[in-house]
Amino acid sequence: MAWPDFSARADEPEWMDTLEVSAEDFAACLADLEQVNILTRAWPPTRRFLERATVGWPPGSELRLVDVGFGQGEMLRRIHRWATTRGFVPKLTGVDLNPHCKAAAEAATPSAMGIDYRVENIFDHTPETPPHFVTSALFTHHLTDAELLRFLRWQTGFASHGWFVNDLHRHGFAWGSFWLLSRVMRWHRFVQHDGPLSVRRAFVRADWRAILAQAGAANAKLSWHIPFRLCVSQVKAAAPAPA
Ligand SMILES: C[S@@+](CC[C@H](N)C(=O)[O-])C[C@H]1O[C@@H](n2cnc3c(N)ncnc32)[C@H](O)[C@@H]1O
Repeated sequence: MAWPDFSARADEPEWMDTLEVSAEDFAACLADLEQVNILTRAWPPTRRFLERATVGWPPGSELRLVDVGFGQGEMLRRIHRWATTRGFVPKLTGVDLNPHCKAAAEAATPSAMGIDYRVENIFDHTPETPPHFVTSALFTHHLTDAELLRFLRWQTGFASHGWFVNDLHRHGFAWGSFWLLSRVMRWHRFVQHDGPLSVRRAFVRADWRAILAQAGAANAKLSWHIPFRLCVSQVKAAAPAPA
């Protein structure tokens, strides 16, 4: 196997975006992805963003949030538990274009959480009430550069208080170690194929700086988190805490 080129984003499609499979097969892929997210510490960066962005919010505040590309919905369930612990009233929406994700997320989510899972392309989604925050995890690397620019503008336009992108750092070590780990763990064939490819489709700081400037979001903050998550956030400081 040849060592890939990491100098630019790969544009090969991921299997999970292109291959037709049964609901059960796709659910098995999402269940393995949840294990990946636990091992690769997906939640702490998003949690830290929400903590920073809600400083000064009084208990009882409604927290409206849209999570894009929700997969099996684990990030939304964590956000719900986090918000409830802080005394906020979470009103959470997930948008994912794959109908298998809605089925898997609803099966994994207690109905009392009231999370609204929608099957929609994010570019066709117009929130009825603007969310305070837009979050996403392992989503932006699925987009082309042109779509990413559009998405940055979409979330900057719709999120009243800020947004958080949780994604990967394109790096040879991340690629090689995930390739090996996914085989040792015998994860779903989509995870074995798409995980290393996701690293190759992902970003380095210079990619983000260039596209953020184009999107008029040059003030967004980049942060790197162990192991090889490269995240991007914008907090609209002037937005008041909800009453
Ligand atoms: C790698 S999964 C990430 C799932 C989950 N957020 C996680 O961290 O495990 C990417 C998800 O983005 C969804 N997706 C890709 N393009 C999309 C689009 N244009 N609009 C909405 N969802 C999209 C896919 O269907 C997929 O479920």
